[in-house]
This record gives sequence, C-alpha cells and structure tokens, in this order.
Amino acid sequence: MIVVRGGRPLSGRVEISGAKNAVLPAIVASLLTDEPLVLKRAPGLLDVETQLALVEALGKRVERRGDVIAIHGETRRATAPQEIVSRMRASFLCLGPLIARLGEAHVPLPGGCVIGARPVDLHLAGLARLGVDIRVDGGVVHAAGTPRGGEVWLRYPSVGATEQLLLVGATIPEGVEIVNPAREPEVMDLVRLLAAMGAEVEILEDRFIVRGERLGGAEHAVIPDRIEAGTYLLAGPITGGEVELVEVHPEHLTALLVKLEECGVEVEAEGDRVRASSPGGWRGIEVETAPYPGFPTDLQPQLTAFLSLARGRSVIWERVFESRFGHVGELIRMGARITLQGQAITVEGVGELRGTGVAATDIRAGAALVLAGVAARGETRIRGVEHLRRGYENMEEKLSRLGAKIWVEEASVI
Ligand code: EPZ
Repeated sequence: MIVVRGGRPLSGRVEISGAKNAVLPAIVASLLTDEPLVLKRAPGLLDVETQLALVEALGKRVERRGDVIAIHGETRRATAPQEIVSRMRASFLCLGPLIARLGEAHVPLPGGCVIGARPVDLHLAGLARLGVDIRVDGGVVHAAGTPRGGEVWLRYPSVGATEQLLLVGATIPEGVEIVNPAREPEVMDLVRLLAAMGAEVEILEDRFIVRGERLGGAEHAVIPDRIEAGTYLLAGPITGGEVELVEVHPEHLTALLVKLEECGVEVEAEGDRVRASSPGGWRGIEVETAPYPGFPTDLQPQLTAFLSLARGRSVIWERVFESRFGHVGELIRMGARITLQGQAITVEGVGELRGTGVAATDIRAGAALVLAGVAARGETRIRGVEHLRRGYENMEEKLSRLGAKIWVEEASVI
C-alpha cells in the first residue's frame, strides 16, 4: 500500500531513469548473439528483472552492477517459461530471436490485461509472412523453420510487432521490409542497438528495411523514459509547484508539452531539461491518444488526473487501447467528475480532490492515482504497489525529494 498525504506544492528536480519500454526489447536482443551485450542506464524495475530472468532461462548469464547490465553466453533453449511470459507481455518479444537463432521456438501467448485484449496477431502474421511455420496449441505458440526475407505490411503501427520484425530481420541477409512501422522513440532505440550489433536498418517514409547476418555484441545506453518524465512533469503544476526534469529528450515529449501549453501551463524546454508550472491554474482541453508522435496512451491516465482539476470541461479519447479506463472509477471516488462514453472520457474540472482508499489496476493507472494523491486534500491509500514497481524506479524517493509526503505501508489484512 502506498500512502500519499496531499496538498503541498511539489518543486525541484527529478532525474529521469532509462526507458522501461526501450530496455525490455534491448534485453531480448541479446538472444541474437553469443557475444556480450552491455546495457547502460537500465532502470531498476520489476519488469526488467522479469525480462532478465527470461533470457537466463533461455541460456544467458546476466550480471548487473547498478544501472549497467551485462548479458553473456549462448542462446540455448527454445522454450520460454510460462510463468515468466504470463507475468509480463514484453517477454513475447523473445519469439522472433529464438526462431531466428534456433529454428524453433515455444512461447506461451501473453495474456490480455486490464487495458485490453492485447492480441499478438500482427506478430504472428508477420512471422508467417517470412516463412515461419506458426502453430498455436494450448495457449502456446510453436514456431518452426528459418525466417526468410520479405515485405510485411502492418495494418496498425504496433510497437511490439515492429520490434518483433526488427529483431528477426536483423538476422536475415536478404532483408525484411516493415511497411507502416511504429516509430516510438523506444522502437528507434532498438534500431540504434541493432545497428550497433551489426545490422543495417534503413528508415524510409513508409517503411523500415532491416537486414543483417551474424550479429555481434555491443554497448548501448538506453534512452530516458519519456513516460516517467511526463508523469513527474505533471506533479509540479497539479500541486501548484514547479518541477524540472533533468537528463531527458524534450523532443520525445512534444505532444505532452503542446497540450500542457494549450491548458495554460508554463512549459520551458532547453537542452536535456524541461520545466513546468501553472501558478494560475489550467483550463480543460480536448486530446486523443495516437501512435507516436501523437499523444501517448501511456500518459492518458496521468493527464486525466491532471484535467480533473482543470477549469472547465475536457474530452480525452483513448484510441490505442479498448479499455484503458481503470483509473476513471478511482478518480471519481476521489471527487473527480468524469463520465465515459465509448472511447471518450469527459471530465468536468472540480476545485479539489479528496484523499481516500483507491486501487491501482495497472502501471499508468497507478501513476495517475499518485498524481491525484499529491494534489488531493488528505491522505490517499493506494493498493496495488506492485504495478508501480513494474514501471517507476524509486518513485517514493523521487517524489519525496520534491516535497511529497509519500510512504509505503503494509496493507492491513482486512
Ligand atoms: C507497447 O505495448 C508498450 N509496452 C505499451 O506500454 C504502450 O502502451 C504501447 O506499446 C503503445 O504505445 C512495451 O513497449 C513493453 P502495440 P504493445 O502493439 O507493443 C493492438 C506501459 O504502460 N495490437 O502498439 O503491446 C493492441 O491491442 C505499456 O508501459 C493488435 O491488435 O503495443 C493495441 O490496441 C502499456 N495486434 C494497439 O494495437 C497485435 O498483434 C497498440 O498495441 C499487436 C497490437
């Protein structure tokens, strides 16, 4: 249980950690080579530990010193353990590297989660298009054969499917063309890593062309986490304070910064720093989530919490996931005035939120409740700490340094 005592302005600097959604594919890229892969600026997150447990189960040796991870050894086993893949969807990205290296792979289908069914049909159709024999039996994907070059068109620019195809294409000399790829910064970070390992990747207007043969090891510093950054940037204005982010890429936050300025928030970005404050309050806006560079779905819950305290009405359309609304009911319990129609979240701004007991349903819903908690009057008691541990490194320390009253309490049994 995380307890937050709200009502104090948060001000100061936050150091942003390496990006969860960049380090997770980077870890499975180690399966593509038997040479050492060194990842720097790796965040200390539950999901990172899970992904490291996965590559160890597949034959790798992992050493970790602070935020540096070294992955050695041979990719030896083609079966991904059920209990790992069911815990964290990004482990499904090992399918491509295993089939590329070993000619076979047995990977359980990742379950859905509260934000949506999250099928992997684009991953499987793409691999099949490259000549891989795909059979699903008892919730496990059995893949066989050696992928060959070809062109794969994605009906939707799926981050995971794009990463899956990049990982496979990097081992195919004749190359793979991915039409309509995702272009999130985390995807581009994987492109950078694969190139450092010896692959060639062309970034064209409508497609990526990736090719490679024997990939080698590399040293790679992961990009800063733009979602962690956006989350903490909101902690300043929502409490009447001013937060400065350090060691970020402001260009990865453009959609958020534009929308904050539209609300009337004062935003300043220069070099690797971004500052935001809103002494005069902020007004409601309209926003819809979209693939990058559109407004990121991973900041939708946090922005919904922020707009709960705006002057006037906001409408937020969640266009990426079918049910990313787990935070809405909990915010209403804190006094927010929100209604849901289909994919549209309509928020009537209120003067204040009140702390109470709430439950985090996923990583970003949890983050939204922490933001509501630091702004609310009284204490907010958030169940589901494990969700936050999956995506936010040292969250209490980073917020306490800004002046927040936030601590962990063992949940009472009842
Ligand atoms: C990645 O998930 C991120 N996770 C998510 O972050 C993020 O929300 C998402 O991209 C969108 O930006 C990681 O990178 C580990 P998608 P992913 O494939 O790859 C549908 C967080 O909080 N789809 O782009 O699963 C899917 O159902 C997490 O850090 C298919 O229909 O996202 C969804 O509606 C949450 N078939 C949409 O596409 C497929 O085969 C976007 O999914 C694949 C996806």
